[in-house]
Amino acid sequence: MRLILVGPPGAGKGTQAKVLSSKWGIPQIATGDMLREAKKAGAPLGVQAAEYMTRGALVPDEVVIGLVGERLQQPDAQTGFLLDGFPRTVPQAEALGKLLSAKGLKLDGVVQLDVPRHLLVERAVLRRTDKRTGQIHHLKYNPPPLGAELDHRADDQPETVAKRLDAYEAMTAALLPYYEAKGLLRRVDGTLSPGEVTKEILRCLEGQSTK
Ligand code: AP5
Repeated sequence: MRLILVGPPGAGKGTQAKVLSSKWGIPQIATGDMLREAKKAGAPLGVQAAEYMTRGALVPDEVVIGLVGERLQQPDAQTGFLLDGFPRTVPQAEALGKLLSAKGLKLDGVVQLDVPRHLLVERAVLRRTDKRTGQIHHLKYNPPPLGAELDHRADDQPETVAKRLDAYEAMTAALLPYYEAKGLLRRVDGTLSPGEVTKEILRCLEGQSTK
């Protein structure tokens, strides 16, 4: 399976990607996570990216395209992958298309998680991630276990979330017609419970390869 999950900040891409990548035994390739890890490691690319991320802006296309290009060469990505947060712009989508066609590969689908803006701010602001397990929680909808050591992302402050949502509407929304024209786009209601969203994703991909 070669799948893209697309949706605004807080739509549930990471939550679903973790479940599906483990179900299918394929890697979750999350550009946001990769950039945060690069920053934590003090890598120049991570430090450069953090300057955009803390303002809620997109990191330049060439940076993320290079990162994903390298990641897709890794052995674990040869039988499939789940892209979470990439591509976000049409130039990124075109670069991915070139990378895949050079290997004679095609995408199986692009799943868009639909969630209205008023729910997204609350989802992002109250998100907490378990530092030890990487599990994504929500202080109201999916509270973390007592005693868990939690990470609160620097870009999950209300003003930055609003800027990220604006960036999504300005830049990423153009991807939807791009993939729709290719017959790859599937829409799923992201306001359902996480388990129901997973079922809907699986239902809309019925008949697609799981290899
Ligand atoms: P990134 O880390 O990718 O963030 P994002 O796209 O803004 O998405 P989020 O991680 O905020 O949300 P999500 O959809 O994964 O939701 P989650 O499952 O966590 O990117 C961060 C930054 O990196 C960008 O702003 C940009 O600067 C840069 N970047 C990354 N990729 C880039 C690219 N390709 N190009 C350029 N720049 C790039 O869920 C959110 C919360 O909701 C959680 O608390 C969860 O528990 C809860 N929740 C999930 N599902 C449900 C549900 N069904 N019902 C109720 N609550 C739910």
